Amino acid sequence: MKLLVLMSALFSTLAAFAEAIPVAVKIDARRVGAPVSPLLHGIFFEDINYAADGGLYAELVQNRSFEHADSLIAWGMVSRNAIGTVEIRSQHPLNSNNSQYAHLRITDAAKGFGIANYGYAGIPLRASEKYFVSLYARATGSIPLRIELEDESGRIVASHELTITSPTWKKFEATLVSGQSVAGARLAITAFARGELDLDVISLFPEQTFKSRTNGLRNDIAQTIASLKPAFIRFPGGCIVEGQNLDNRYQWKHTIGDIAERKQNWNRWQDAIRDRKAPNYHQTYGLGFFEYFQFAEDIGAKPIPILNVGMACQYQSKELVPLTELDPYIQDALDLIEFANGPADSTWGGKRAAMGHPAPFNLEYLGIGNEQWGEDYFARYNQFDRAIRKKYPKIKLVSGSGPGVDDKSWQLAWNQFRSGTRAAMVDEHYYRPPQWFLENATRYDPQFRQCSVSEARKCPRVFAGEFAAHDSRDRRPSLRAAIAEAAFMTGLQRNSDLVTMSSYAPLLARADAFQWAPNLIWFDDSHVLRTPSYYVQQLFSQHRPENAVALEIDGAPVNMPRLPAASVATFGAEQLPPFSPQEIPTLYAFAGVDKSTNSLVVFAVNPFDQPRAMHLTVEGLAIDAKASLIRISGATPDAINSFAAPDAVVPVELDARFEGNEFRAELPPHSLTILRATLENGRH
Ligand code: AHR
Repeated sequence: MKLLVLMSALFSTLAAFAEAIPVAVKIDARRVGAPVSPLLHGIFFEDINYAADGGLYAELVQNRSFEHADSLIAWGMVSRNAIGTVEIRSQHPLNSNNSQYAHLRITDAAKGFGIANYGYAGIPLRASEKYFVSLYARATGSIPLRIELEDESGRIVASHELTITSPTWKKFEATLVSGQSVAGARLAITAFARGELDLDVISLFPEQTFKSRTNGLRNDIAQTIASLKPAFIRFPGGCIVEGQNLDNRYQWKHTIGDIAERKQNWNRWQDAIRDRKAPNYHQTYGLGFFEYFQFAEDIGAKPIPILNVGMACQYQSKELVPLTELDPYIQDALDLIEFANGPADSTWGGKRAAMGHPAPFNLEYLGIGNEQWGEDYFARYNQFDRAIRKKYPKIKLVSGSGPGVDDKSWQLAWNQFRSGTRAAMVDEHYYRPPQWFLENATRYDPQFRQCSVSEARKCPRVFAGEFAAHDSRDRRPSLRAAIAEAAFMTGLQRNSDLVTMSSYAPLLARADAFQWAPNLIWFDDSHVLRTPSYYVQQLFSQHRPENAVALEIDGAPVNMPRLPAASVATFGAEQLPPFSPQEIPTLYAFAGVDKSTNSLVVFAVNPFDQPRAMHLTVEGLAIDAKASLIRISGATPDAINSFAAPDAVVPVELDARFEGNEFRAELPPHSLTILRATLENGRH
């Protein structure tokens, strides 16, 4: 017993001693390494968790075209002492893509008979803001209508009157100004005469959309995304690209043109997760490919669309298009390139121009398939590659590599690339516990790369297209997860000659209707919540230096690990050592120089429960004494942000000072610290 007490005292003394010895971080700025890819930090948008309809897309009416499977979902009947019926009909619809509409038979209008929409969780209104209503209608005879916004108690806060006299479909538009702010309003449309009335595509948008676009995006969510300064946006998925079967796959051609003519679809996230079913989840495609391209342009991000490769979800129906019948799928890809980049007088470029964007969208990258895997995938991928390369040799293709890394499917993918399959980028996905991220920060270091140096030129670069640390505690979007991601991302930075793009996933989630967690940004109808992971992504993106510089931790080189030249030359691919989880280092760090801001930028991540003292020395650069330090940390690793306490974990900026070329700091437990030092007299 005494011995145990003695030993435990000895261990705690040793542990305290280890904590007290500062980690020596040495930067040699004369040894400039690989550029950090300007595309390294981007976003991946998928319509999961109500990210599009009910989320980023600013439409306030749910089920505006009565095309949802439950065709009256989100609608209710309004009868003010009146008598009438409401039914869904499909005879002589607005158009063949929009085949259902609401038919109202008003027997006694009394004080009004009609329908009302409740939005997603009620319609949020802001006092004095303008709201644009539009609808299609036709009627027998002449039917006066009232369009009203009502608060939860039925009090009218905005109203407009019009009369429907047209026996054929006609579009009506009006502007309402809300008299007050309301959390859960409804939009009511009531008739004041006997007769029959058909209504369709009933839409309500706030005036204030992102960049004031019509058919635009919710300003607060779009702004939160824009603040990440993403270098690219990968869209629209994800599994929704694949569909549960080929019939309900994502087809971009259904998502462009007049919103009243877009061919809508269910959403495969309706029933993909057993305990998070969302039977009314639907895709109106109001946020379609034109809007994605426009959003990318508005936030200065490169668009990276992903197309179906002729395969439905390999976890679900596993449907395959025979290789001999793949042409229409390939044609969709060729047409998309023309839609994005073709002149305004080309067939598909003309459709873009007709939507208000005659200039091209400058598409450079195109993803073929989502996270597909296996021989079937590569047989199809190669057909796309041949056709696209022939017509558009400059377009760079992104290939999938399956849902996991280091497994057989992933290995098969890399074997394909090593033996001739061409791709600019290979998309790798990992949703793993925080510990995995800590153990895998070296996975792209040269000694573990899938292509040896002699093969590297023909091998694709890596796109870490979907990743997130899944904290075992209910998959909470915790500080622990965010810091593990930060540690891992120091490995992406130093290997950015190979890993040129990365994006966290998923991006968005509606708090009252999500299927997947964690997510980067949460929202309800009137709030947006940034997670600790959001701030990590934002900090990496905002402080991306241009080039790595040599960095050692406790005497061991970290930033630019190199294999001895001779061993590289003799390595055959099959001889490459398999990646195996690495020992966890004392600290995760990266340093780079940024000529545009004339600064040295150092990232230091302490994912441990104890603070770490850091002693930094810089060689080869003269540094101003005054520096700045940006830090994200929290009271406990379990810390999260919530709607009640949205700023529990946020970055703070502190002053910092160099003593000559040395800097000392204590890095708090579970923290990311970014040190920005100015180069003296611009010398570097
Ligand atoms: O991000 C959620 C899902 O994870 C994506 O749809 C899919 O690509 C991956 O399996």
